[in-house]
Amino acid sequence: MTKQFAVIGNPIEQSRSPELHHAFAAKTGIDLNYKKILAPLDGFESTAKDFFAQNGVGMNVTVPFKEQAFALCDQLTERAKIAKAVNTLWMQDGKLYGDNTDGQGLVAAIQALGWELGNSRILILGAGGATRGVIYPLVQAGAKKIVIANRTLARAEQLVEDLKESVAHIELTATSLDQLSGEYDFVINATSASLTGDALQLPETLVFHHAYEMAYGKPSSFLDQAQTRQIPSTDGFGMLVGQAIEAFSIWNGVKPELKDFL
Ligand code: ATR
Repeated sequence: MTKQFAVIGNPIEQSRSPELHHAFAAKTGIDLNYKKILAPLDGFESTAKDFFAQNGVGMNVTVPFKEQAFALCDQLTERAKIAKAVNTLWMQDGKLYGDNTDGQGLVAAIQALGWELGNSRILILGAGGATRGVIYPLVQAGAKKIVIANRTLARAEQLVEDLKESVAHIELTATSLDQLSGEYDFVINATSASLTGDALQLPETLVFHHAYEMAYGKPSSFLDQAQTRQIPSTDGFGMLVGQAIEAFSIWNGVKPELKDFL
């Protein structure tokens, strides 16, 4: 029987998840259908429950419902608990399970480029949900120092406060976006600046060796600066594919190769 999957969000038209999951299915020989569901802003819970009541197998969750999905789950993975957001849902033994595959998607994308995360020093720009979701997986992949830089310093400090127990063996600190300096192996742009078309200005005193922009398909002043400095850099398409692969493998028990879909 064809297994039913969906991605739920609002808006949802822009989502590339159906094409990715259908491509994974074709490669791995899984019989599935994966559709987009537009939920009303006040209707996430009932829409998600209806989907599983009608034998839906798994559901991805996107903006703005990831925190509501987290709250709805009966069981959560460790990384979803730390992220406080869920992008992957499934039913097991009558219970709703939730995971967050965004961070592992980023890690897999970085590793697929051959960039070494072991013992790395990472500067993450931004202190919103996107940053929260990736810290624990980056630490699990071997990061030894992470600095969170945010326009609003208090928000970065709060995030460090929230997360420091989960990653107690590494150095995790906060700084202000306008006081950047030092040397990092990676700078990851997790601000929404590229989504809104705003420029980010990185000072010359900031030295870094790889640049990862989480957004994709948008002009990025962050990537422009990395390219001017001739630093290896990429947009967030690999992370998108990586999070989808991770969800696919949870649901279907088979893991497509990231490099086949980049
Ligand atoms: P997400 O869930 O995608 O992380 P979010 O929670 O709205 O979205 O967070 C957006 C992040 O981008 C925040 O860190 C925000 O900084 P503030 O906390 O100071 O608002 C950051 N951001 C958005 N626009 C920015 C800009 N033009 N320059 C710098 N940082 C920006």
